[in-house]
Amino acid sequence: MDLFEYQGRDLFERHGLPVLGGGVAETPEEARAIAERLGGRVVVKAQVKVGGRGKAGGVKLADGADEAQARATDILGMDIKGHTVGKVMLAETADIAEEYYFSYLLDRANRTFLCIASVAGGMEIEQVAEEQPDRVAKVAVDANRGVDQALAREIVAGAGFPAEVADQVAEIAVKLWAAFAAEDATLVEVNPLAKVRDGRVLCLDAKVTLDENAGFRHADHEALVDQSAVDPLEQAAKAKNLNYVKLDGEVGIIGNGAGLVMSTLDVVAYAGADRGGVKPANFLDIGGGASAAVMANGLEVVLSDPSVKSVFVNVFGGITACDEVANGIIQALALLEQRGEQVTKPLVVRLDGNNAEAGRTILDEAKNPLVERVDTMDGAAERAAELAAAGK
Ligand SMILES: Nc1ncnc2c1ncn2[C@@H]1O[C@H](COP(=O)(O)OP(=O)(O)O)[C@@H](O)[C@H]1O
Ligand SMILES: [Mg+2]
Repeated sequence: MDLFEYQGRDLFERHGLPVLGGGVAETPEEARAIAERLGGRVVVKAQVKVGGRGKAGGVKLADGADEAQARATDILGMDIKGHTVGKVMLAETADIAEEYYFSYLLDRANRTFLCIASVAGGMEIEQVAEEQPDRVAKVAVDANRGVDQALAREIVAGAGFPAEVADQVAEIAVKLWAAFAAEDATLVEVNPLAKVRDGRVLCLDAKVTLDENAGFRHADHEALVDQSAVDPLEQAAKAKNLNYVKLDGEVGIIGNGAGLVMSTLDVVAYAGADRGGVKPANFLDIGGGASAAVMANGLEVVLSDPSVKSVFVNVFGGITACDEVANGIIQALALLEQRGEQVTKPLVVRLDGNNAEAGRTILDEAKNPLVERVDTMDGAAERAAELAAAGK
């Protein structure tokens, strides 16, 4: 989960990092009130989850409350790279002397964590890395050791931070790692980390990504979810404990096992390319040992998506035998009917693996006119794409 800058700023503050006073507003009047509280010159910053807000005109200085209200009026509702600005953050201003870059992230390719630091901050780090690679320091961080004073010094030296800010940057490096680890983040990025005229080093921007898989350890993270951006189908699926991701196609997908579902998305997209460009409508992994109730919940969510025109149920029986799955599908359709759901969309079912024959027989004998059995994955994908194209 990506955080807004103001949420990242608050998180930094809680972990003792040097940030400037600020507040968040949804209306120009609220912006004015915050500017009055902060006093003097403020900066008004668009809160959207993309970088490059400054360049896009989403970061403006304001002299006093009147101007802050006017800048907030300009920025609220603005479109930045496809994101509409619904909130602005107001912050005290810093008299910047130098802009640096500092981040920690999960380095999946190398199976470790990584610190990226540069004295050439302010602009996008990808650009610095391309144009002046020698000015970007990359230091691996071992998860068990973390960032202690010694490693912090190594990072500071490696990136070539000037001597007069070395102590402060080292302290920030240690605290930022502590925040990164304590919050189960996969990214914390400070760009710019700024040296201001009075000599202090401050975090002037905050980009934070939290690991949702660690959500169970952080009851407080739930409150950081941007409800306005949550897809209603994903919300309904989450309430039913389903592993569901909304996509923008027409073929509903249900499978068991994340790997199988991923490849199902691929074969459906491939089959759909020749059939009017139909695509998968979602990812849904009902997991191993899925009961009829879980299948019913899955079908309910997938079928409630108005863009779904056909559903592909792709199951490879392993621990769960296919006859159980077949019974589950038939029972699920009956359950949905009992719940008052009118099921009218065709289902293509492919069963293979443990007890596949028994499962296929159950489907055939049930004679449900909505259920069509196809025994190969490619064949079933083609049929589901065909039905979706016909229903478009
Ligand atoms: N509190 C502040 N005081 C003064 N200048 C700021 C402040 N916050 C940001 N800036 C300036 O605006 C630029 C862009 O802001 P930033 O928060 O980094 O947004 P983005 O990275 O999305 O462009 C910064 O590089 C910095 O020069
Ligand atoms: Mg920035």
